[in-house]
Amino acid sequence: MADTRPRVWVSQPLFGDVVARLREHFDVVETARVGKHSPDEIAAALADCDGALVTLNDPIGALEVANAPRLRAIANVGVGYNNLDVPALTAAGIVVTNTPDVLTETTADFGFALMMAAARRITEAERWLRDGQWRQWSFETMLGGDVHGATLGILGMGRIGQGIARRAAGFRMRVLYHNRSRLPADVERDCNATYADVDTLLAHADHLVLVLPYSPGVHHIVDAAALAKMKPTATLTNIARGGIVDEDALADALESGRLAAAGLDVYEGEPAINPRLLALRNVVLTPHIASGSLATRRAMVALAVENLIAALGVGPRAGDPPTPVNAALSPSPNERGVGMRGNEVETGPIAHDTDRRKPTASK
Ligand code: DGY
Repeated sequence: MADTRPRVWVSQPLFGDVVARLREHFDVVETARVGKHSPDEIAAALADCDGALVTLNDPIGALEVANAPRLRAIANVGVGYNNLDVPALTAAGIVVTNTPDVLTETTADFGFALMMAAARRITEAERWLRDGQWRQWSFETMLGGDVHGATLGILGMGRIGQGIARRAAGFRMRVLYHNRSRLPADVERDCNATYADVDTLLAHADHLVLVLPYSPGVHHIVDAAALAKMKPTATLTNIARGGIVDEDALADALESGRLAAAGLDVYEGEPAINPRLLALRNVVLTPHIASGSLATRRAMVALAVENLIAALGVGPRAGDPPTPVNAALSPSPNERGVGMRGNEVETGPIAHDTDRRKPTASK
């Protein structure tokens, strides 16, 4: 008897018990190993599939779907989807979804923690202590910069940026932000945040946090010229995407004392790390884990599963995935905000964060 069940590819090992829901509707092909697949491997995996559950390890564009005539939906497990060529997939009629909202607070927690770790030299101090270098208590050991009362600059004021701003209130920080579109007054009030142009943000921030989505328009926007505008006592934290920062320019600034410290969760060539950054003591390096609490990572997979089931036309939301990126392909885009195309990111010199479902508030 012919196999009539749709087939879906799960590109990485994800939480098996969460992914199991797919088996109620589909034949599921699960990949056993974690890692980046080659374009040929992705094309081969997609060739006879109706849908796919993928992560940032899986770059997919026109080439990868050229021989996948049945492919109708790709559910990205992540709010950022710069691994996907959305215009090409939209042109191929493929619904793309991502996982906003469920990771907002967890990621904001981590951004704040990374900023604090850089400012207060927490990992540097721990390495020094473990190295046996703490021989006596001293008044001037590992002096850092204050977080309380300082000026926090947020570049990319979507929902995660707003979450970081709300946390800053507890530390009585002054919050400046820049976003491609200014937030409505009530949201600014709620975040206790003041809109600023990029140069003002760079010049005034004691701690600058990057939370904007990656697009070619923001490639290396934090370059040598931008870093030169920052205070030498400032810190830079990046929980967005590595390509936003020119890592060699950052290493120059950290080596020369042009910038006090940095906290990085994302890297341009990750998992490879610029060796100059690895050699520096005044940078906190973490392996792209900002959304990595157990509950949140499970929630991201659950949302992606729900998206895929709906996008492939089955389940309680058949045809209406909760968080589409290219809502032009979704039957009810108007529910998701006037003038917006679902969750799709606005790109431009300074873009919004990615996980918007409302016209004015995003990541
Ligand atoms: C995201 O959700 O974009 C995180 O970076 C993990 O993919």
